[in-house]
Amino acid sequence: MNHRPENVTAFIAIAEKLFQAEKLPEAGRQVAARVFERLRTPSDDGARHRTRYPACEWLDATLAPFIDDDTSFGAAARAIKALEPDLGWSRRSSGVNGSDGYIEAHVHGMICGPGGAESRYDVQLGFSLMLPHTRYPDHSHPPEEAYVLFTPGAFRQNGGEWRDPGIGGGIHNVRNNPHAMRSGDVPFLAIWCLLTREGD
Ligand SMILES: [Fe+2]
Repeated sequence: MNHRPENVTAFIAIAEKLFQAEKLPEAGRQVAARVFERLRTPSDDGARHRTRYPACEWLDATLAPFIDDDTSFGAAARAIKALEPDLGWSRRSSGVNGSDGYIEAHVHGMICGPGGAESRYDVQLGFSLMLPHTRYPDHSHPPEEAYVLFTPGAFRQNGGEWRDPGIGGGIHNVRNNPHAMRSGDVPFLAIWCLLTREGD
């Protein structure tokens, strides 16, 4: 299916800009550029993972601090809210060092990727939401990835120091790079994009 709904188009346009921010590592901007290049071609197999999880109920509270802002973050928040009925939801239940109850305290929303609002398999574009005081488990995955942080929060890579890149900053993960994220006193939101086709 090659029709792309306006809500998806709007989010992709805003996210593309955010992933080119100077605050991102150069390699993060580069992997994102390749993701958005692929996203120029709509592709949707119609699969939808619409099952919701407890942390989905925190979406409004998480977006509230910036949803009315006249910024790219505000525009992205409004686009995410508009897409809520079409998102593909998932959560991780494996990995080590996650905080107690982290499974209920986080959720991932897929916008472009398997089961998302545009279900496809060559890229992933979505976000992670965590309740306050949540530590996501250490994990790694073959695809290369970039994150952009929308709220206070911190990342850790390769067992190193926790680092808060600041709102609009982010991290880049090379293939199979172990990483984790954690929230502080407020809900956490970060968007991510991955190149998911092997050999690319
Ligand atoms: Fe990741």
